[in-house]
Amino acid sequence: MWYRTVIRPFLFSFAPEGIHHFSFRALKFLYSLPGGQKLMQQRFAVEDKRLEREVFGLKFKNPVGLAAGFDKDAQLVDELAALGFGFIEIGTLTPKPQPGNEKPRLFRLPKDQALVNRMGFNNDGVLSAVQRLKARHSQVIIGGNIGKNKVTENKLAYRDYEYCLEALYEVVDYFVVNVSSPNTPNLRDLQDKGPLTELLNRLKKRMKEKPKRKPILLKIAPDLSQEQLDDIVEIVSKTKIEGVIATNTTIAREGLTTGQEQIEAIGAGGLSGKPLSHRATEVIRYLHQQLGPDYPIIGVGGIMTPHDALEKLEAGASLVQVYTGFIYNGPRFAGQINQSILESGI
Ligand code: FNR
Repeated sequence: MWYRTVIRPFLFSFAPEGIHHFSFRALKFLYSLPGGQKLMQQRFAVEDKRLEREVFGLKFKNPVGLAAGFDKDAQLVDELAALGFGFIEIGTLTPKPQPGNEKPRLFRLPKDQALVNRMGFNNDGVLSAVQRLKARHSQVIIGGNIGKNKVTENKLAYRDYEYCLEALYEVVDYFVVNVSSPNTPNLRDLQDKGPLTELLNRLKKRMKEKPKRKPILLKIAPDLSQEQLDDIVEIVSKTKIEGVIATNTTIAREGLTTGQEQIEAIGAGGLSGKPLSHRATEVIRYLHQQLGPDYPIIGVGGIMTPHDALEKLEAGASLVQVYTGFIYNGPRFAGQINQSILESGI
């Protein structure tokens, strides 16, 4: 209540990226106070044995995760765990640090409960994240979402993904191969059958050489055609990757309430939040039907209410993730979703 009526209007009166950093500092400060961690857990997290899930061999305290892009550099893992997330996906990380696109590159569409971003994989580089994760305290499950540097050509992209996989191996619990961000030129060409099969096979091979195999997941775009989705089903089966994350942001702009002029002024980028919800659920449902009831899918895209999360779970997702809904609903959101999962008995 407080978040939507008082805190959100205040936060939303500032530029989105500035507020992102301000919120990081506020959470860090709160957590660092004597008893801060406990207080956060008590106020925000919902803990219950019935929320536990075992998916791709990992034990999750609850099925509600924070999607990639919020804590790209693993700066806030302990604090976010105290807000009640069952897992946190860091990244997208690239081998070398890179600044991302020019600012402004993050925009709010409040009338549509949406965001548009063209961040462009701004991150401190994978090695910084490794250092931070080594120093973390919480045991929360961490996903390592990996990508390629902007300057790396697609034909050598596999090297960037392999580098990130090797670097993060000791400090994350599962990997996500991100070939679906719309904000790195030509990245999504790697979703095509040939290059994607090759990339996933290479990463699986690397993983086989490790003492313990960690799950590798593929994150896909919501803008894939039916034919491309069928290709994904085939590739997933052939390469035997452990799961799919559906979906990333969309390049579509259909059905928005925000005026055309404003949309055009914002320009290119990935749209997230409510307008993405229906399409993301459709993709999840289709993949679930094609890949079978036991195949792990993480459902993400437009979860703005606890009910939206239940819809994704009913469509076949084993776990869900939120990003835009967290921005619009505030720190209680993971707890609220978990509460309604408990009440629904899913
Ligand atoms: C993202 N997302 C994202 N995904 C990813 O795989 N790597 C990334 O670096 C980012 N970065 C990023 C930045 C910003 C500002 C946003 C809003 C989103 C996509 C995100 O993880 C998620 O897939 C989509 O946003 C859809 O979920 P929501 O936001 O509708 O809950």
